Amino acid sequence: MKTDETYQSQARMLANKVKKRYRHLRKRYAKQNLEVFRLYDWDIPDIRAVVDWYGGHLVIGEYSRAQSTPDWLPLMGSAVADALNIPREKLHLKIRKSGIKEGARYKRLDHTNQKIPMWERDLQFYINPSDYVDTGLFSDHRNTRKMVREMVKDKDFLNLYCYTGAFSCYAAKGCARSTLSVDRSETAINWAKENFDLNKLTDPRHTLIQEDTLDFLAKAKRKKLSFDLAVVDPPSYSTTQITQKHFDIARDYPTLLNGVFELMRPGGTLFFSTNHQNFDMDTSRLKATNITEITDTTIPEDYLTKRKKIHRCWKIHMGTA
Ligand SMILES: C[S@@+](CC[C@H](N)C(=O)[O-])C[C@H]1O[C@@H](n2cnc3c(N)ncnc32)[C@H](O)[C@@H]1O
Repeated sequence: MKTDETYQSQARMLANKVKKRYRHLRKRYAKQNLEVFRLYDWDIPDIRAVVDWYGGHLVIGEYSRAQSTPDWLPLMGSAVADALNIPREKLHLKIRKSGIKEGARYKRLDHTNQKIPMWERDLQFYINPSDYVDTGLFSDHRNTRKMVREMVKDKDFLNLYCYTGAFSCYAAKGCARSTLSVDRSETAINWAKENFDLNKLTDPRHTLIQEDTLDFLAKAKRKKLSFDLAVVDPPSYSTTQITQKHFDIARDYPTLLNGVFELMRPGGTLFFSTNHQNFDMDTSRLKATNITEITDTTIPEDYLTKRKKIHRCWKIHMGTA
């Protein structure tokens, strides 16, 4: 067990590091109108935390471990909040759990129902800093969203595992001919609707569907739906509610991606991303030939760490024949 003195010294180290990082990023991101960015990601081995900035709010997560004591996270939180002059009501502390055995990831932590709009360039997204482990916006994909927007004009866009619809809002803003967003969570689909409304993008050309991805793919194939551009950003693990079947992206990516390829028009493009830390892609199992990993261009500066890659991302072109 660590002593009080060790905790105090960790709190000072974390506060200093976060303050420096905030000073370094703040002006540059303000110029780009980015209100959400990362300030610390477990850079010091003993300080197992992640600190995110949400336009004046701080969200601090502790990666849970057996030996942590309940006073550790509040102590780190207070030190960081004081260093950045953030009042306590804008400090949000969470324990982060990961892995298939820890289904707690999607459990509700609180019931504030707070939704605060945050700018990301010329779009806004509602975030909820305290009710769930995730806030409603995955900022590590802001560059990928920009890529989608730049290539989507007059195209039919598919967003699988759409969550709160950030990719779809970018596509709509980029003048997609249509967008279709799929997520099995009612909370996510309602949130995505609110994000479309917030950005004045709601239009009959943009559809949100609450459905399991694999069920959607089967139906879409029967209906002969087709798309020019797609984003597939699944969770690492998921369990189908009805059949209790486990989905593991490291094992099941060929079934998922080959299923999506069948909906893609010749010459179409698909972005595939995963946060799985031990993901290995065997391209010979995929029915597409032009597959390029683009992770180096999709991870923004504030998410670059030596410890791990926050996500990995591939751009896949469908042949024209
Ligand atoms: C990592 S998030 C996706 C992030 C999203 N692409 C974004 O840009 O914000 C995972 C999402 O997958 C959804 N999900 C999990 N299993 C699913 C399934 N079998 N079918 C459809 N959606 C699923 C969850 O509800 C959650 O919204």
